[in-house]
Amino acid sequence: MRVLVTGGAGYIGSHTLLELMAQGHDVCVLDNYSNATPEVLNRVRGLSNGNVADFTGDVRDPAILDRVMQEFRPEAVIHFAGLKAVGESEEKPLLYYDVNVGGTLALLHAMDRIDCKNIIFSSSATVYGEPVYLPYDEAHPTAPMSVYGQSKLMAENILTNWAKATAGTSAVLLRYFNPVGAHHSAKIGEDPKDIPNNLMPFIAQVAVGKRDALTVFGNDYDTPDGTGLRDYIHVVDLARAHVAAINYAEKSTGARPFNIGTGQSYSVRDMIAAFERACGNPIPTKQAARRAGDIAAMQADASRAAAELGWSAAHGLDDMTASTWAWQSANPNGYDN
Ligand code: WQD
Repeated sequence: MRVLVTGGAGYIGSHTLLELMAQGHDVCVLDNYSNATPEVLNRVRGLSNGNVADFTGDVRDPAILDRVMQEFRPEAVIHFAGLKAVGESEEKPLLYYDVNVGGTLALLHAMDRIDCKNIIFSSSATVYGEPVYLPYDEAHPTAPMSVYGQSKLMAENILTNWAKATAGTSAVLLRYFNPVGAHHSAKIGEDPKDIPNNLMPFIAQVAVGKRDALTVFGNDYDTPDGTGLRDYIHVVDLARAHVAAINYAEKSTGARPFNIGTGQSYSVRDMIAAFERACGNPIPTKQAARRAGDIAAMQADASRAAAELGWSAAHGLDDMTASTWAWQSANPNGYDN
């Protein structure tokens, strides 16, 4: 199929391009490079048959959207383009609603103008909020605690109403748990713009000497070692879930959420120990209080994705840390090397 990938130069988008091309799909990227660099697409072309069409522009801009729709004629869209920093979303709520919700609306209008009927949406397990039960299944109540999470849930609801009202359309809502890791080539990986918010890239930057020590947020949670538990998923497994979702969208109609996680959770201390095994050096840490808004434990029930998408995660914890270390040590300054 011809697949338009918004935000395709990003961390998950770039890994998804490779998996789509490996399955014979034709791909096109729309990215405004607000949180990525065109160098990523050069790396992706070097790792594939090289056929990656691309447009530079903002997903909120109807003019660039219509140009992409007319010139590429996508049969499906994977919508990654959006903002994802939880802390920043609290400081800039209107920006987050404008991009994450407004961008999704603009994209759907443009899809309707060429009768494109399939969309895969980059959602997040953060839509669940505090767990009423664990592991989370897709029937778990949704009560996001951050503006970021609210924006993702609003976009899910818009997609659900669009799919219900528009004949023959399919919206697959992928609720990611915690994406980590890198492509085995170590040519692409996670490259946060500023100080990393997330655990794994911060650990990696400590390991490569860019940061002095990891601050561990909280050690008094009701978990086995007192630190936060998360369901980390290898980015290549996550990318493959998007290919499975494209295949599912072709054969289905309506909107449907899917948890994309492994069903196994690890603590902060587990991740530090695993990374020390991967890099062969100790990771210096400092203890701090809990981070505002953090949940003690998150874990996915991913059985629906296994049953209906034919997808489940294949990479384990050591793959996650070893591939992150390979990427970071080969690219100490990310794509700015
Ligand atoms: C993981 C654990 C922290 C950093 C967020 C978003 C989610 C998704 C992934 C976008 C927690 C601890 C972290 C550090 C630490 N983002 N930690 N020191 O908060 O689970 O999820 O990012 O899609 O939607 O909510 O991920 O990696 O920030 O934190 O101790 O320097 O690591 O307290 O327990 P999180 P995270």
